[in-house]
Amino acid sequence: MRTRLTLLACAIAIVLIPATFSRSDATEQPERRSEIQKSDMQKKLDYSKNILDGLVTEDFDKIIANAQSLNTLGKRKWMQNDSIAYRTQNQVFWFTTGTLITAGEQKNLDGAMLSYTQMMHACVNCHQLIRRQ
Ligand code: HEC
Repeated sequence: MRTRLTLLACAIAIVLIPATFSRSDATEQPERRSEIQKSDMQKKLDYSKNILDGLVTEDFDKIIANAQSLNTLGKRKWMQNDSIAYRTQNQVFWFTTGTLITAGEQKNLDGAMLSYTQMMHACVNCHQLIRRQ
């Protein structure tokens, strides 16, 4: 009798414990993740506008500071998406923020403009592929 009760308790625990964990995964995490994502993306938009401002006014300090902020954000993973296409755009985005910093440090306006254009391609391409997936 005692063994049976213990077995029953174990069986209930085996059924209930994973259910509790998976519920918290399903309800809390995606919400929190999408909030982080939204504020990160809004920041990205602001930083990239600031870079455009820096390019047209030849303000290299502004270009460097904002490219550095984007570079830091580029190291983050924005969503659970491990497709090669997504990772490639993420990599291109991160890499071009680096070349933008270098061009800014060298006060190379043409180089900065080129890197900015390449970076903006990654912005648009990544969003396009997410919509198509
Ligand atoms: C490697 C992928 C990737 C790159 C590169 C990328 N984003 Fe995003 N972006 C995302 C994802 C993922 C979302 C969230 C989409 C969703 O949840 O619908 C998003 C959403 C956004 C949003 C909407 C946020 C909101 O309030 O809903 C903006 C604005 C944005 N990105 C700006 C940018 C800018 C500007 C760049 C380039 C400087 C950029 N993104 C580069 C992946 C990327």
